[in-house]
Amino acid sequence: MNVLLIGSGGREHALAIALKASPLLTRLYAAPGNPGIGEIAQNVALDCADHSAIIDFCKGHDIGFVVIGPEAPLVAGLVDDLDAAGVPAFGPSKIAARLEGSKGYTKDLCRECAIPTADYERFAAAEPAKAYARQRGAPIVVKADGLAAGKGVVVAQTLAEAEAAIDMIFGGAFGAAGAEVVIEDFLEGEEASFFALCDGERAIAFASAQDHKRVGEGDVGPNTGGMGAYSPAPIMSDEMSARVMNEIVAPTMAGMKARGAPYRGVLFVGLMIGRNGPRLIEFNARFGDPETQVMLPRLDCDLLPLLLASAKGALPDAPVRLKPQAALTIVFAAKGYPEAPERGGEIRGIENAQAQQGVVVTHAGTKMDGDKLIANGGRVLNVTALGDNVADAQRKAYAALDLIDWPGGFCRRDIGWRALSR
Ligand code: AMP
Ligand code: GLY
Repeated sequence: MNVLLIGSGGREHALAIALKASPLLTRLYAAPGNPGIGEIAQNVALDCADHSAIIDFCKGHDIGFVVIGPEAPLVAGLVDDLDAAGVPAFGPSKIAARLEGSKGYTKDLCRECAIPTADYERFAAAEPAKAYARQRGAPIVVKADGLAAGKGVVVAQTLAEAEAAIDMIFGGAFGAAGAEVVIEDFLEGEEASFFALCDGERAIAFASAQDHKRVGEGDVGPNTGGMGAYSPAPIMSDEMSARVMNEIVAPTMAGMKARGAPYRGVLFVGLMIGRNGPRLIEFNARFGDPETQVMLPRLDCDLLPLLLASAKGALPDAPVRLKPQAALTIVFAAKGYPEAPERGGEIRGIENAQAQQGVVVTHAGTKMDGDKLIANGGRVLNVTALGDNVADAQRKAYAALDLIDWPGGFCRRDIGWRALSR
C-alpha cells in the first residue's frame, strides 16, 4: 500500500520511521516532509491547506491511506474531503476535531457526560468573564476557545493577571480563536499525557508520556511546544490508565457518537492527576510532539494496521503491544527559542548520534542548503533513546546528543527529572 503522511515535524519523522517498518507499506510519501523524512520517504511539495491538490496527488499516486500529523488540517476537514473522494485517512472528521479546536465544545461535552474536569463557564465578552473570575477567585485559568498554537492558556495567580488575560484574548491577540473565552478552576496535581486509539465506536489504550513544556531547567520560563518527554509516565499505572479509559475516554466516545460526531483517530488526553484521580485538562485530536517520538520506539507491533483499523472502525480488542523499555527524547532547539530562534547554523554529526545503540534522531526544523544540513526552526532536532528505565534512556539520549555538532543549539539538561525523583 502507498501511504501519504501529512506534516513536517519531529512527530511526523517518528511516524515515518514506524510506517516505513510495516510489511504492508509499498511507498511512503510525505507532504511537505523534512530532510530527515526525505531519507526514508519521498517528500512532495504540496500545500496542506489545498485539499483538492492533496486529493489529486492521492489519485495520481495510488495512495491507499493518508496519515495526518498536525491539528490544522484535521480542524480544516481534510479527513472529510479525503473520505468524500474515496481515500481513507487517519484522524477525526472536522466536527470530531472540535475536541481540540474548541475548548468550550469539550468542556460542554464533559458537563453533559460527567467527565471529570475543572468547573468552568464560557464567555463571549470581557465584563461577565471578569465578574466570574472575581467570583471564583485566584488562582484561576483563562483560555482562548480556539487554536492558539499552545499560547492561548493563562494560569493566573492573581485576579489582576486573570483580568489582563481576558483583555488580551478579547483584544484580538489570537484573532478568531479568542472570540470566546473559557474560564476554569485551577487544578492541582501532576500532569500526564495519555493516548488512546479510537475507531468511532471503541477505544484502546496506546501509551502514556510526560512532556516538559517550559523552556528552562526546573520548569521555568515561557511555555514551548515541548522541550522533551519520556514514556511511560510513571504516574500512569495500569490502574490509573484503566480509570482514564473508563472515566474519560469511554464517555467521550459515547458522547461524540451521540452528538453525531463519532471520534476516529488518536485521542490525546491531557490530564491532571490529583488526589481524587484523573481530571481532563484538554483533548488534542492528534499525536503529541514530542510525545510521539518517545511512544513509537516502544511499540512492539506494526503501527500501520492499527491506524488503518482506527480509520475503518475495526480496532482489535487487545490493547496496543508495547516493549517493557522506557524511552526519553530531548528537544535540541535553536538558541533564542521560543521568543526569537536563531536560524541558519550548520548541523554536523547526526550520524554519530544515530550510531549509538537504541538511539534515533528525528528532524523537526531543518533544511538542506546544498549538501549542508541547516537549522531552520525553533525546535530543530529530537534525540530519542530507548533504555531499561527512564534513567538509562536519559543517560543514552544525552550521550548521543553530545555527539551532535551544532553550536547554535541548546537543550534542557534535566529532561526526565520528575520520573527520576519518584
Ligand atoms: P492546555 O493548552 O489546555 O493544555 O493548557 C496549557 C497548560 O496550562 C497545561 O499543560 C497546564 O499546565 C496548564 N493548565 C491548563 N488548564 C489548567 C487547569 N485547569 N489547572 C491547572 N493548570 C492548567
Ligand atoms: N507536546 C504537546 C503537544 O503536542 O501538544
